[in-house]
Amino acid sequence: MKKCWFTWERRRRLSRDTWELVLTGGTSQDTAAITAPGEFVNIALPGRYLRRPISVCDWTKYHLILLVKEAGEGTRELIDTVPGTRLDVLAGLGSGFDFSPETVGTNPVLAGGGIGAAPLYGLAKRMKEAGQAFRIALGFRSEEDAIYVEEFSALNCPMEIATEDGSLGAKGFVTDLIPENAYVLACGPTPMLKAVHSLPQVTGGQFSFEARMACGFGACVGCSIQTAGGPRRVCKEGPVFRKEEIIW
Ligand SMILES: Cc1cc2nc3c(=O)[nH]c(=O)nc-3n(C[C@H](O)[C@H](O)[C@H](O)COP(=O)(O)OP(=O)(O)OC[C@H]3O[C@@H](n4cnc5c(N)ncnc54)[C@H](O)[C@@H]3O)c2cc1C
Ligand code: FES
Repeated sequence: MKKCWFTWERRRRLSRDTWELVLTGGTSQDTAAITAPGEFVNIALPGRYLRRPISVCDWTKYHLILLVKEAGEGTRELIDTVPGTRLDVLAGLGSGFDFSPETVGTNPVLAGGGIGAAPLYGLAKRMKEAGQAFRIALGFRSEEDAIYVEEFSALNCPMEIATEDGSLGAKGFVTDLIPENAYVLACGPTPMLKAVHSLPQVTGGQFSFEARMACGFGACVGCSIQTAGGPRRVCKEGPVFRKEEIIW
């Protein structure tokens, strides 16, 4: 974990309630603390006691790209930050995805629900750079909620989308898009993770949780989930957990 100062540079609207934010470290603060896709940053907001955890969507040496969905006052403030504002960011948090070919095998499927697509983009980019084959399966409520479809498409990988109302892609849920013998790398709301986890065709996988957090670095145990090895902190041992260790 490293405390950094990043400058809020710009934003781009992705859907009715979700924005892409670009933060820069200038030339003095880099992103070296980030080592794997699936890690998150924890951002302090002026006047707020608790930091807000946000997945790293993508990163370059001096830039951090986040996709932020307005959930309440904290995320609204983050989205509406004035360009040039310096933000206190804890980087290099969490476990991230293990996407080595030995782990994910021959049929990895990146399965994202809603804002859960964010960390999967950085994962997809790095798997592509590593020459690995994979499929992308994304689920949204409707076309109006779909995010980063063009960015994922630009990776030129097999990709399917499902929306609950059928306004984009297939009508249904991301669970309908998971093929046989899939090793899933999943991120999304807990009910979606649970549904994907229980599919008979899922032979293995890693699941990234977005539990509510307080301290964000392992001190308060407020974010724990049950696992086969006992309670585990989403912020410290997670947010990514292996299929076999998760207990619902
Ligand atoms: C590891 C991790 C990664 C995350 N990545 C992203 C991301 O990439 N982009 C993004 O937009 N959000 C992400 N989140 C969720 C984000 O942290 C919360 O939406 C945010 O903290 C809410 O702050 P707020 O002040 O806007 O809302 P609050 O006022 O704190 O809450 C508003 C509403 O949102 C609910 N809520 C708050 N936190 C969560 C949560 N973690 N999960 C579900 N519901 C919640 C509250 O119950 C309440 O109903 C992530 C969370 C975690 C733990
Ligand atoms: S939020 Fe405090 S231990 Fe995870």
